[in-house]
Amino acid sequence: MLSYRHAFHAGNHADVLKHWLLVECLSYMNQKDKPYWYIDTHAGAGAYKLDNAMTSGKSEYASGIGKLWAKCPAPLREYLNIVKAANDSPNLRHYPGSPMFANSLLREDDKAYLYELHPQDFKLLGHNFAKNRQVKVQQQNGFDGLIALLPPAPRRALVMIDPPYEQASEYAAVVKTLQAAIKRFATGTYVVWYPLINSAQRQSNKQGEAQKMTEQLKNLSKDWLDVRLLVGDASTFNGMYGSGMFMLNPPWTLKAELEKHLPELSRLLGGEAGSYNIAAS
Ligand SMILES: C[S@@+](CC[C@H](N)C(=O)[O-])C[C@H]1O[C@@H](n2cnc3c(N)ncnc32)[C@H](O)[C@@H]1O
Repeated sequence: MLSYRHAFHAGNHADVLKHWLLVECLSYMNQKDKPYWYIDTHAGAGAYKLDNAMTSGKSEYASGIGKLWAKCPAPLREYLNIVKAANDSPNLRHYPGSPMFANSLLREDDKAYLYELHPQDFKLLGHNFAKNRQVKVQQQNGFDGLIALLPPAPRRALVMIDPPYEQASEYAAVVKTLQAAIKRFATGTYVVWYPLINSAQRQSNKQGEAQKMTEQLKNLSKDWLDVRLLVGDASTFNGMYGSGMFMLNPPWTLKAELEKHLPELSRLLGGEAGSYNIAAS
């Protein structure tokens, strides 16, 4: 069941979009002097070695952070600084996962709750945050863990939902979980990552599932934002030609930021084929 390992994909174009927006959202949360919780339902290992046996030969990071490492656009500087802090040399060898990005931005009174089911990644995650009393790591289904936590004690939270989508049922699980979450805590910021996969080359219809999921999520709040970053042509690209981030109650400044900076980022990551799409309520 749990065959997905994020180490194979760490730092790819989808991670750049996901983690840049995570940094933007948390920086926005930090503008207010009131604590919050960061809840990561699918945390992964927390940090990745790009030159280990698992990732070498695949080099997915070359499609993402590899293209920004030497020359990064100014608006992604805060994101890049966190990646740089994870590397102790000018060479790109390590890439932080979502928990590590978040932890870099948490303040003294903020807390993080991380869920990871895979035994090996859970072990690595625990090791990465072993001495951190602000961070609680649990080997539990993140969908259930999230619901049990809501509403958060400080009445402020950013929730990151980043499933592997290996099973088609995960799209419906995201919708069902967010329906329950928003009932318990309507004002939270919820961020859902999803892949854009060329279904013509695949057995499953992941494209259709992602589309259905985002349509259903739009009904959950009057305030939503859906951002897609494409690095290839949807009709000809073989595999994941892009990804999206769907947000409920996003920072109100984010849409304008994205409109300003996505043209350059999509060009840097996708070249001629790079493009983006922003939809909002
Ligand atoms: C895409 S990866 C997460 C990457 C991480 N969010 C990041 O950005 O660095 C998805 C992770 O979810 C884990 N997973 C799958 N189903 C889960 C579930 N129901 N609850 C918690 N973790 C799950 C997988 O083992 C995998 O490590």
